[in-house]
Amino acid sequence: MADRERYILGIESSCDDTAVALVAADGSVKAALTQSQTRIHAEWGGVFPELASRAHAAEIIPTIRQTLALADIDRSAIRAIAVTRGPGLIGPLMVGVNSAAGLGLAWDKPVIGVNHLRGHLRSAALEGGDVPFPALVLLVSGGHTMLAHMRSASDISILGASRDDSVGEAYDKVARMLGLGFPGGPAIDKLAKLGTPDIVFPRPMLKDGLEFSFSGLKAAVARLVQEQPDIDPPTVAASFVAAVLDVLAVKCARALETVDAAALVVVGGVAASPQVRQRMAEVCDAAGVTLALPPLKWATDNGAMIALAGWDYLALGALPDLRPATRLSIQDF
Ligand code: KG4
Ligand code: ZN
Repeated sequence: MADRERYILGIESSCDDTAVALVAADGSVKAALTQSQTRIHAEWGGVFPELASRAHAAEIIPTIRQTLALADIDRSAIRAIAVTRGPGLIGPLMVGVNSAAGLGLAWDKPVIGVNHLRGHLRSAALEGGDVPFPALVLLVSGGHTMLAHMRSASDISILGASRDDSVGEAYDKVARMLGLGFPGGPAIDKLAKLGTPDIVFPRPMLKDGLEFSFSGLKAAVARLVQEQPDIDPPTVAASFVAAVLDVLAVKCARALETVDAAALVVVGGVAASPQVRQRMAEVCDAAGVTLALPPLKWATDNGAMIALAGWDYLALGALPDLRPATRLSIQDF
């Protein structure tokens, strides 16, 4: 059977989404489902690991079953099972890895442990997305913020990362300060559109290098909200977003001057932000490179990106390491 007609079953459970997808080698998505735990964690203002593990355990088999039913394919069309083995929360990871291992045994299929970050890196190539190499990648998620140089799907080097908070974390914390729900990113986006960026917040580490820091910006917002409880929330949100966008734009433009890149690829949950997408388009126009973005639904955590990364691992003959790992570098398999 040609790889065009075969699928990898991708399973993602590293944080608060139970996600499953069937993806062909060319990145086309046959079926995908995500069971979000947003409502479970909302009252805690962040992901509660024990509740996340329990929800994954309850949802993972029904989600796999429903995805298979949607795809309506014969079991022989499944080439392998790819599952996130890290980084992430240990309980949630163990649910995914053990479910995948069990299925692999029952179906006699190979099981590939995938680095979640490598999944995000490949998300822009899903469903016909064109990602020319070499590429500069900006990964902006809830857990990570970094710039990387990607010479191919597997040859990756880190150019700079955040020394403290990730961009997604900053969005979530600022949302909490403003009394918005969890996750904070989409709520901040919406509120920012209603305000003007009149407050000048710090733009940490803007002047040099490719590293990031967002804790100072977060602290500045916290101080202001504490000192002026009546301050206009849309103005705070718009000003916070303006500071983040300036930092991301300057760092990406600087990186594009220093490395050989045909494209800028922006991935991770924060790449779902319309403001981020717009500003990155401007950076690419100015630098004369292509902008590659994942379709909105593949920007946040999903099973499709894990399945596509699984195809890379198969092509490389990378050893299927199934040990869950809470911490992994983007260079790890
Ligand atoms: O990649 P992701 O789904 O999970 C991790 O691997 O961390 O990213 C989640 C992060 C959260 O911080 C969330 O607030 C942020 O992505 N996010 C957004 C948007 N949608 C999700 N941030 C800004 N604008 C959005 N529309
Ligand atoms: Zn993620």
